[in-house]
Amino acid sequence: MKILFIGGTGNLSTDCAELLHHRGHKIIVLTRGHSLTPPEYHAVRADRKDAAAMRAALCNQMPDVVINFLGYEPADVQLDHALFAGEVHQYVFISTAAAYAKPPPRLPITEETPLGNPFWDYAQKKEQCENWLLGQWRASRFPVTIVRPSHTYSPRWFPNLVSSSSYTLAARLEAGKPVFVPGDGENPWTLTASSDFAVGLAGLIGNDGAIGEAFHITSDEALTWNQIYAETAAALGVDPPRILKIPVEFICQHCPRLTGTVKGDKANPAIFDNSKTKRFVPEFQCRKSFRDGIRESVEWFRQHPDRKVVSPEADAAFDQVTAAWLAQGGR
Ligand SMILES: NC(=O)c1ccc[n+]([C@@H]2O[C@H](COP(=O)([O-])OP(=O)(O)OC[C@H]3O[C@@H](n4cnc5c(N)ncnc54)[C@H](OP(=O)(O)O)[C@@H]3O)[C@@H](O)[C@H]2O)c1
Repeated sequence: MKILFIGGTGNLSTDCAELLHHRGHKIIVLTRGHSLTPPEYHAVRADRKDAAAMRAALCNQMPDVVINFLGYEPADVQLDHALFAGEVHQYVFISTAAAYAKPPPRLPITEETPLGNPFWDYAQKKEQCENWLLGQWRASRFPVTIVRPSHTYSPRWFPNLVSSSSYTLAARLEAGKPVFVPGDGENPWTLTASSDFAVGLAGLIGNDGAIGEAFHITSDEALTWNQIYAETAAALGVDPPRILKIPVEFICQHCPRLTGTVKGDKANPAIFDNSKTKRFVPEFQCRKSFRDGIRESVEWFRQHPDRKVVSPEADAAFDQVTAAWLAQGGR
């Protein structure tokens, strides 16, 4: 099949494109061309927000399947619908597990768990995209499959509460600077390796039964934030790490921009039942433990020291919250 990735060079999508390529599919990757597209794929350049540029870039490239990794608001998926309705066999929308109700009414979270995140506009807009697309499926059989990743990391990421895509958490731990977990740090949280996510996603591609359906694709391993940071520190060789336990409301009060990602996501318990995905994709099994995955991240950064970039915004957020907590006598 000819598979178009809108995105395709990112944290999740890189492994997905690679696996589908290995399975013999022709891969088309649409980006703006700032990132490197592997030479074995067909690279298409356009800003996905620019309807005319998207049309021009794809005029001779109509795929069998589209996987949209860059859909953040209804206008994005409405443009895709205008481009691909009646043309493609399947359109996969990469949504997010953050769209599930927060806090979840019960655990584990299944695809039947209601959506509705009152704290995070990112998740609210993903839900709006899902609803709009499922409306098109019901009205005119637009062949959508919804996929909801939870917190998913590649070896180029260090999962944390503030900024997983930079080296900030690792740099702070290595420098002996404080980081924080929400509350007592004991809420269970699920982290999925992108190589495992890719197996679940690939199995849904060209899978007729998956059309009109929603799936999450996550690990079955849930760790507490205390365990996640302890594993990260151990992988980095930092002993002891400086980890503060800070109430969620205090974090949000002192760094309001973290409200969505902390109160609206990572401070909530997240344990997933993946039996629906396993039913549709029998080969899907998460094989990588976080202990192994985070060691791969450490190793990757040791081999790419130029990529050890600290995000000034993320570092400032850690500083803002931890300094305020320590100033009022917190430990
Ligand atoms: N990681 C998680 O924990 C997680 C959890 C839930 C959901 N998700 C979802 O996963 C998706 C992100 O996947 P990903 O991290 O693998 O990234 P991705 O889709 O591959 O996107 C990153 C690539 O897209 C290109 N790009 C960015 N803006 C663009 C634009 N306006 N037009 C064209 N290309 C553009 C960039 O390349 P250029 O710079 O070359 O353009 C970049 O390398 C999002 O939908 C997110 O909501 C992620």
